[in-house]
Amino acid sequence: MENSNNIYPIFDRMLTRADKEALLKQHSVMIWFTGLSGSGKSTIAIALERELQKRGLLCRILDGDNIRSGINNNLGFSEEDRVENIRRIAEIGKLFVDTGIITIAAFISPNNDIREMAANIIGKENFLEIFISTPIEECERRDVKGLYAKARRGEIKNFTGISAPFEAPANPALSIDTSQLSVEESVNKLLELILPKISFKKD
Ligand code: ADX
Repeated sequence: MENSNNIYPIFDRMLTRADKEALLKQHSVMIWFTGLSGSGKSTIAIALERELQKRGLLCRILDGDNIRSGINNNLGFSEEDRVENIRRIAEIGKLFVDTGIITIAAFISPNNDIREMAANIIGKENFLEIFISTPIEECERRDVKGLYAKARRGEIKNFTGISAPFEAPANPALSIDTSQLSVEESVNKLLELILPKISFKKD
């Protein structure tokens, strides 16, 4: 065979994403939630993960408060630190997607440039932007962590929606307003969008 000198045995190379996807019988994707603090990103991420796991699909959630207490514990909420926060998260997310894992990111990621950077790192074809569009009045009414009250009193600076900007995405793959939809309804809408993309077909 004329090409036999150029054949490299498979054990000489790192296994690919396609190899991992075949093992897991799923296609991976990054499901990127953006939205205000208290909008419901983490709640929906957790409920979605459970539904996917029930269907035999392997997921990994990356979540604001967890990442910020670990790998990103040296970062605050200046514009510069938010960029670095999301840059690292996107690089980590890419590792999971490249391992064939359905990855769910739940970060405020407050503007188009930051989300665009994340999409470029992960690869646009792997990136599903989901806007958790719950209005700020509802997020503030819930105030699960008491942070809106602190931000109003001036005890937290640069608080997204109060003293720092949030730019809504122009063309999200899906918008979910958790003041209008229950968690179950929200997850059903997500499943409708996601399942066809992750269901395993050899290609
Ligand atoms: S991001 O803007 O850099 O994407 P990220 O999602 O990691 O933010 O972290 C947001 C979480 O940090 C919020 O849900 C809230 O609990 C906490 N937080 C503390 N300070 C702030 C602040 N100034 N602005 C927004 N969120 C804050």
